[in-house]
Amino acid sequence: MSVAKIGIVTVSDRASRGEYVDRGGPALNDYLSATLTSPWQAEHRLISDDVADIESTLIELADRAGCCLIVTTGGTGPALRDVTPEATESVCEKMMPGFGEQMRAVSLQYVPTAILSRQTAGIRGSSLIVNLPGSPKAISECLDAIFAAIPYCIDLIGGPFLETDPEKIAAFRPKK
Ligand code: MTE
Repeated sequence: MSVAKIGIVTVSDRASRGEYVDRGGPALNDYLSATLTSPWQAEHRLISDDVADIESTLIELADRAGCCLIVTTGGTGPALRDVTPEATESVCEKMMPGFGEQMRAVSLQYVPTAILSRQTAGIRGSSLIVNLPGSPKAISECLDAIFAAIPYCIDLIGGPFLETDPEKIAAFRPKK
């Protein structure tokens, strides 16, 4: 069975300057470790809120590292430096707006400020790119809302067969 590569990208000016410890990247790693039962390997990146850096990191992870899934955390809000959704859209051939819609809808049950996240998702080649907010607690709140659909989405774009622990998330694949 092939090892799925998954990009974990923390987008934060302050964490990338070392002004605080990145908690989003490790939280994402923990979530994926607890959820995926098929073999996978993380490609971690910690970068600033710079649109060109975000774009080149996403391109590198999708095209050269061969990640079937790239999850970003941070930079989705309304502040001047929040540009992760713009960078995502500029490198994707196809947007998948349902992911952002569902994550915002579910997140509103936790915080009224969920509406401030412009998080989105899209496809570049054989990679699914998904944006999450920067708050570490948002990671499980958002991924729990969408993860059931991720393995089938990756099947459809020619990626590896991801399997999940049904106690955590039951991957949904429509019967052919
Ligand atoms: N979504 C969830 N599930 N949980 C959260 O705590 N925080 C919100 C929102 N979405 C939050 C959330 C807040 S306060 C902001 S400002 C936006 O995400 C954008 O966050 P970001 O700029 O760190 O990406």
